[in-house]
Amino acid sequence: MSKKETDELLNHEYDGIRELDNPLPGWWLATFYATIVFAVLYVGYYHFGPGLSLKDELANDMAKLEERQRLAKKASPGPDEATLLAIVSDPAQMAIGKAEYIGKCASCHGILGEGSIGPNLTDKFWIHGDGSLVAIHQLVEEGVAEKGMPPWKAMLKPAELNAVVAFAHSLKGANPPNAKPPQGVEVKQ
Ligand code: HEC
Repeated sequence: MSKKETDELLNHEYDGIRELDNPLPGWWLATFYATIVFAVLYVGYYHFGPGLSLKDELANDMAKLEERQRLAKKASPGPDEATLLAIVSDPAQMAIGKAEYIGKCASCHGILGEGSIGPNLTDKFWIHGDGSLVAIHQLVEEGVAEKGMPPWKAMLKPAELNAVVAFAHSLKGANPPNAKPPQGVEVKQ
C-alpha cells in the first residue's frame, strides 16, 4: 500500500474490507456544480425572466405564417421592385403620388407620414412586411380591413396606386415632428 493510500484509508474495517477516502475528481464536481448553476439560470430566464415559452414561440411563428399566407393569397403579382423604383426617380409621377397621398392617406397617416390613426410610415418599424416598395404595394393594394386600413386596389387606378406607394415609401427616414411611436417590428437595413 502506497503512502498516499495509507493516508486516505478510513478508520474502519468490515470483514477485512477497508475503505479509501477517495474524493470525486475536481473536473467531475465542476461539471456537477455547473449543471446546478445552469438550471438556476435556465429557470430564472424562461420561467421568471424574458425567455419565450414554447407557446409564445408558436404564437409568433403562426402570426408570421398567417401574414405570409395572406400575402401569398394575392392572385396577380404586383409590380416588381424595378417598376416601382422607376417611379421614384420620375418627378412627374412622384407629384401624382404626393397628391394622392395628401388626398387619400394623410388623414390617417399624417401629412408627413408621422402617423395618427394609421401607423407612422417614416420609421423603421413595420407591422406588415419589411417596408420595401413591393411590400408596401401589396399592403396598400389589399389593405387590412379589420384594422381600418382600406384596400386601395378598387379605388385607385394601377398607375395611381404605384405612384402613391412610391411616394409613401419616400417618406421613410423623414423624422417628422409629433411622430407616432413605433409599431410592429424593426426592419434593419
Ligand atoms: C382610414 C384610415 C386609413 C387610410 C385612409 C389609409 N390608411 Fe394605411 N393604415 C391604416 C391603419 C389603421 C393601418 C394599420 C393596420 C394594422 O394595424 O394592421 C395602416 C397601415 C398602413 C401601412 C402598413 C404600415 C406598417 O407598419 O406595416 C401602409 C404602408 C399604409 N397603411 C399606407 C397607406 C397609404 C399609401 C394610404 C393611402 C393610399 C393609406 N395607408 C390610407 C389606416 C389608414
